Amino acid sequence: MVEIRAAHDGDLQDVTDIMNALLATTTCEWTDTPHTVEERRAWLERVTAAGHPVFVAADGASVLGWASYGDFRDTAKWPGYSGTVELTIHVREAAWGRGVGRLLIDALITHARARGKHVMIAAIDGENDASIRFHERLGFAEVGRLPGVGEKFGRRLDLVLMQRALDVVDVANVPER
Ligand SMILES: CC(C)(COP(=O)(O)OP(=O)(O)OC[C@H]1O[C@@H](n2cnc3c(N)ncnc32)[C@H](O)[C@@H]1OP(=O)(O)O)[C@@H](O)C(=O)NCCC(=O)NCCS
Repeated sequence: MVEIRAAHDGDLQDVTDIMNALLATTTCEWTDTPHTVEERRAWLERVTAAGHPVFVAADGASVLGWASYGDFRDTAKWPGYSGTVELTIHVREAAWGRGVGRLLIDALITHARARGKHVMIAAIDGENDASIRFHERLGFAEVGRLPGVGEKFGRRLDLVLMQRALDVVDVANVPER
């Protein structure tokens, strides 16, 4: 039984491990530097202090994945962006394909809608076909592709921007009966 709940300090080792698991072998995150629990602790404090969510999907004591959103661009500098948020999601590989990611995105969308947000953005590595397909299934549509803006493993990488409107019911996301 998977439960979606707010992340707390005791989850940070799992959150860190889940992020680091794919770092050395994939381009899904454009860094080579492993995350640490201390860095994730500062991040959790910063994100929650800003009123943004960090959710984990937990199966008993085991954290299967986590998701969060924050400002898309600097809303202190440009308040006009405050209706738009950008998400991050990571699910443990052993739990892929079991609906965990969908539960986490649903929780983010419910949270964002309750706060009057209008648009959710996912910024995805162009080689991360799994994530692009996943976001399509969750009602996101590709709205932009920025060629060669990133780099990892000596390769220039594209950034794919996907967007979902939050203040309309998206029929594409209603499960088939
Ligand atoms: C992308 C990711 C979050 C998907 O999580 P998940 O728990 O496996 O996804 P779910 O099981 O909830 O799948 C939800 C839907 O997406 C689809 N989907 C998931 N992975 C897919 C894939 N690789 N290819 C095609 N469709 C996929 C599922 O079929 C499902 O559709 P349905 O509910 O209509 O049947 C997960 O693979 C992951 O964490 N990947 C590594 C990190 C990453 O890339 N994060 C995103 C960075 S932008």
